[in-house]
Amino acid sequence: MIAVAGQVAGAAYIVAALLFILSLAGLSKHETSRRGVAYGIVGMAIALVATLWLTAAGAWGEPQAMLGLVLLVVAVLVGGAIGLWRARIVEMTGMPELIALLHSFVGLAAVLVGWNGALYDAGLEGALADIHHAEVFIGVFIGAVTFTGSIVAFLKLSGRMSSKPLVLPGKNVLNVGALVAFVALTVWYVITPDLWLLVVVTVLALALGWHLVASIGGGDMPVVVSMLNSYSGWAAAAAGFLLNNDLLIVTGALVGSSGAYLSYIMCKAMNRSFLSVIAGGFGIEAPKSTDQEQGEYREIDAEGAADMLANASSVVITPGYGMAVAQAQHGVADLVQKLRERGVDVRFGIHPVAGRLPGHMNVLLAEAKVPYDIVLEMDEINDDLARVDVVLVIGANDTVNPAAAEDPSSPIAGMPVIRAWEAENVIVFKRSMASGYAGVQNPLFYRENAQMLFGDAKDKVEEILFQLSRT
Ligand code: TAP
Repeated sequence: MIAVAGQVAGAAYIVAALLFILSLAGLSKHETSRRGVAYGIVGMAIALVATLWLTAAGAWGEPQAMLGLVLLVVAVLVGGAIGLWRARIVEMTGMPELIALLHSFVGLAAVLVGWNGALYDAGLEGALADIHHAEVFIGVFIGAVTFTGSIVAFLKLSGRMSSKPLVLPGKNVLNVGALVAFVALTVWYVITPDLWLLVVVTVLALALGWHLVASIGGGDMPVVVSMLNSYSGWAAAAAGFLLNNDLLIVTGALVGSSGAYLSYIMCKAMNRSFLSVIAGGFGIEAPKSTDQEQGEYREIDAEGAADMLANASSVVITPGYGMAVAQAQHGVADLVQKLRERGVDVRFGIHPVAGRLPGHMNVLLAEAKVPYDIVLEMDEINDDLARVDVVLVIGANDTVNPAAAEDPSSPIAGMPVIRAWEAENVIVFKRSMASGYAGVQNPLFYRENAQMLFGDAKDKVEEILFQLSRT
């Protein structure tokens, strides 16, 4: 019975793994992303049913194993209910922190699986026992780093902890020292698997995870989230080796490698060194204060903005996090339609890290039915901006900051930005002169060709629409 159940579950796991691969492939394009999500849901459903089936077959007639089955069902029901509830209420802007929290669960699970592997005597001997001990140790280490790292990312992203990088004296030595100690302890544990060594590596990894992410500044947080995604994948793969579960190994490796690749792409987009970010801000200096006086800024009201737009022949909109918070995308889509009806050429310029997660702006604009073909990437629009009449910066800040291109001492120096300031006129929609996520002042607001339109982005877009409808 168990042998047959094992074969059926094994086949189901292969189907699920293939569906996960198809899911990742589907998610890489807008047009196929819905299908990608559907593949992922079906794959996960198959994996869950197969695991339940396997556990039920093992528990048949064995009261002790039956308890495991009951616990599994309860965990699936409770976890599924909480997951459904959170996913239904989460705002799009809160996604990164939810993802960070979910990664922390993967990390914690890997630690628990590792500890279970150490406490439960599998009766292995010789080389097999050595491999088992190495798996336990590495799994606990990666899991614990992911656990505390993800908690710090959650606290930073949700504003419960300062987004400033923690700069302890000798922070790089601390990180490298922790890694060297981990390697030495692993060798020690494989030779003499004493439990106190596992306690030491757990504490060490918990501290390292906390320190790695606390050392990274706000501007680099997107990379951190995808890096933790990668770590959580490796943690799951390590748990898969311990539990002898092929699906967990394949899925963990998929998540681990795709997360690492995404971190690499984001580092390139932000001109950050991949290695320095994954090494907890290795070599990145603490930001200098940029609170110096910037000069005078000018204001415009909705009527003035409507006038300027009505007289423009080309307009580019660069949205950011503020558009998402204000939920202004539908109004923006109406504004685009109105302007296009008047013969104005309207396009969007999307920065790769605009908002709070990759693709955030594209999803919002697609939801508001903005045509894909006028939504351009930063690199596609930047060289045209000098020939544009008006750029509307709607709730964006860091992603249009000229300091990144012009001030080598700025904490975001070198990060590619949308060169909105090159346009003839710039209108910045925001509620105050406050800085953006990276906590850096934005000299764009004080440029001669820039004007501030203060207020909630949604209200202001609606006021402009109203003014346009009167002319
Ligand atoms: P930010 O630099 O954070 O600027 C958003 C601006 O929107 C703020 O300056 C804020 O100014 C304004 N705002 C907030 N609510 C508003 C509302 N209701 N109406 C109008 N304006 C409003 O955003 P960005 O330009 O999109 O840059 C993204 C930043 O987030 C980058 O630093 C990036 O590294 C970071 N980040 C990105 C990700 C990913 S992967 N995309 C993940 C985490 C963090 P006021 O308060 O004055 O209104």
